[in-house]
Amino acid sequence: MSSPHIAVYGATGHTGRLAAAELRARGRDVILAGRDGAALKALAEEFGGEPGVVVHQATLDDPAALRALAEQAGVLIHCAGPFTHTGEPVARAAVEGGCHYVDHALEQHHTKWIFDTMQEPSRQAGITMITAMSFYGGMGDLLAGAVAEGLTGIDRVISAYAVTGWRLTTGARKTAELLFADTRRITYEDGAQHVRYVEPRNAVFPFPPPLGPRTMIAPVPSSEVVTVPRHVSARRVEAQLTAHTFEEEQAFTSEHADAETRAGSAFTVAVQAVTEGGGAAGQAAGRDLWRLSALASVEAAVRLADGHGPERPGVYAPAEAFPPGPFLRDLERLGLFTLTLPGEAEL
Ligand SMILES: NC(=O)c1ccc[n+]([C@@H]2O[C@H](COP(=O)([O-])OP(=O)(O)OC[C@H]3O[C@@H](n4cnc5c(N)ncnc54)[C@H](OP(=O)(O)O)[C@@H]3O)[C@@H](O)[C@H]2O)c1
Repeated sequence: MSSPHIAVYGATGHTGRLAAAELRARGRDVILAGRDGAALKALAEEFGGEPGVVVHQATLDDPAALRALAEQAGVLIHCAGPFTHTGEPVARAAVEGGCHYVDHALEQHHTKWIFDTMQEPSRQAGITMITAMSFYGGMGDLLAGAVAEGLTGIDRVISAYAVTGWRLTTGARKTAELLFADTRRITYEDGAQHVRYVEPRNAVFPFPPPLGPRTMIAPVPSSEVVTVPRHVSARRVEAQLTAHTFEEEQAFTSEHADAETRAGSAFTVAVQAVTEGGGAAGQAAGRDLWRLSALASVEAAVRLADGHGPERPGVYAPAEAFPPGPFLRDLERLGLFTLTLPGEAEL
């Protein structure tokens, strides 16, 4: 784990490219990894063929090549999805090759699998694995951690995403299709995890002005139901997404949109922790959810590479790996959103 290289698996995808570019901008040595050697070489040339950029081809059905990748890296950022298909082989390779691991998954079953299955092996390997360190799932988890701090008797934690201008990539479209077709969703109700058929309902979430109340898809399948109860004691955890997000005509038909168009998304992620006596709320509002996803994973990976991760190895939710309020503040400083935490404004 002494390698200075941070590997990006799925570097040819939209999120992977953004993560790799951010790592280079921070002067980090990068391994561009994925299944398509020619595409990876072309990407390395785009980065100027610098010595700090190397290429490693490894398909998911080649555990030796994946392990060799992990052996060369200090940290591996997993950006290839859907994680339902790609999650397990890459996570296992990180453990076997002994490098830290950060992923972009929002899939509930992958998140549950990684906590259930990789906890002990990661501890034995002495590595840290952080799952759902991204926009969907990750921002909700971090805000929940920051908002719930010091609260007791929490009845429910609701993470509500208001998103416009989301132009789904191929990976995101495939992921969304798998998630919405899943009839065995994970919920967190009455203080316990359940796996069951869930009938989505229309709910209204009271976003603070200027957004105001919005009609939401509730629940939307997201990783918070697995990650948040690990660090916040509540009876119910639910994620919601504005109904209009998928009603936008171009959401599902923009797989070939250019990076500039994709950068036009706007978001507010608001989290409420509701107690009998009131509770607390916080939010992050800004632009470009794709870049924010990449920055969150890079911020985590760089900390792990520099020895500023959790004290003990194991699998962590974003808000377990780093103190959530300060971590969000550091992300805010990168300029993509404005953060409001409890006590700072009337939400
Ligand atoms: N939670 C969040 O907010 C969040 C944010 C961003 C991304 N994500 C997730 O991250 C994943 C990637 O998203 P994206 O927008 O970057 O998608 P994308 O632009 O379509 O890129 C997908 C990447 O995954 C690789 N890939 C796909 N299937 C693979 C397989 N079977 N074996 C090896 N590589 C494979 C692709 O390789 P090729 O180039 O060879 O096809 C490509 O590098 C998606 O699952 C998405 O849901 C989540």
